[in-house]
Amino acid sequence: MWPTAELHVHLEGTLEAELLVSLARRNGLALPSSDPAELRSRYVFSDLQSFLDIYYANLSVLRTAEDFYDLAYSYLQRAKAGGVQHVEAFFDPQTHLENGVPLAAVFEGFSAAFEQGRKTLGISAELILCFLRHLGPEAAQDTLSLALPYRDQFIGVGLDSSEIGFPPSLFTDVYARAAAEGLHRVAHAGEEGGPDYVWQALDLLQVERIDHGNRALEDPALVTALWDKQIPLTVCPLSNLSLKTASPDLAEHPLRRMLEENLLVSVNSDDPAYFGGYVDDNFAALEHALGLSTTDLARLARNSFRSAFLPEAEKDRLCALVDACATQQAAPAERDATR
Ligand code: ADE
Ligand code: ZN
Repeated sequence: MWPTAELHVHLEGTLEAELLVSLARRNGLALPSSDPAELRSRYVFSDLQSFLDIYYANLSVLRTAEDFYDLAYSYLQRAKAGGVQHVEAFFDPQTHLENGVPLAAVFEGFSAAFEQGRKTLGISAELILCFLRHLGPEAAQDTLSLALPYRDQFIGVGLDSSEIGFPPSLFTDVYARAAAEGLHRVAHAGEEGGPDYVWQALDLLQVERIDHGNRALEDPALVTALWDKQIPLTVCPLSNLSLKTASPDLAEHPLRRMLEENLLVSVNSDDPAYFGGYVDDNFAALEHALGLSTTDLARLARNSFRSAFLPEAEKDRLCALVDACATQQAAPAERDATR
């Protein structure tokens, strides 16, 4: 198991069906079924929107600070068991505000879970506030205004939800405002949208990372720009399979070319409760399908730390954990070779 940073996970996308059922019960809310297996059997998607429809509907069970705590702490426990040492997690405040949940409850629950994760699990975690692109730029501005009183509880802003028809250019002003507040900037781009969306995220939103970025490979000049500036790409292979945003054959996943092009690519889970796996599951699936070597896997793990919003000394410390793991993994082969 590789030590990694997870840089592309939506906390709301870690809502496992069992927790969904127990939160619905706790809050006296109805679900289409109270059987987790039956709920899970509906997680068959044709594209991003077909997933988002179910994902947003399920989020109505999150009501109190305790619910947000339980969601985030369950994720941190599972992530740590899979080797994750540091998390920069997305959340969608607009969904909760629309459900009548005050932002104070969201921040209280997530921040308490992160604190507990630090103390009990030794995992570090930060929040990235995402704007829902389908609600448009004015709603994003209003959301940022509501969130700024909690400025010390999140490190950056992101852009998610339905991609096509909602280009990054719409959000130029709110990203400039976030930058002026000293917030980090990332955006989903090139998941379903074309390379032009990735260019806009870079040039207009001035993002420091691209979430997904698969379709950037269609434009050689964009590949060169991503390499030149060493812009990290947070790639989510099992998500791409589930949402049909990449070939159904994982052996053809764009990550192979991203590695060949020497891009700063990392492996992430996106919405693990829906897409069949956490970061370690994504690593295992890739190792098998792409025939990745220990060197490739160690590079992906190191890339995750190099792509994080962490001080350089902390990145060095975490990369040393990867080096130690790589040495350990290579040891049996070397022992055999010297026999
Ligand atoms: N929100 C949650 N998961 C998402 C994804 N994969 N793409 C866009 N928005 C999302
Ligand atoms: Zn995502």
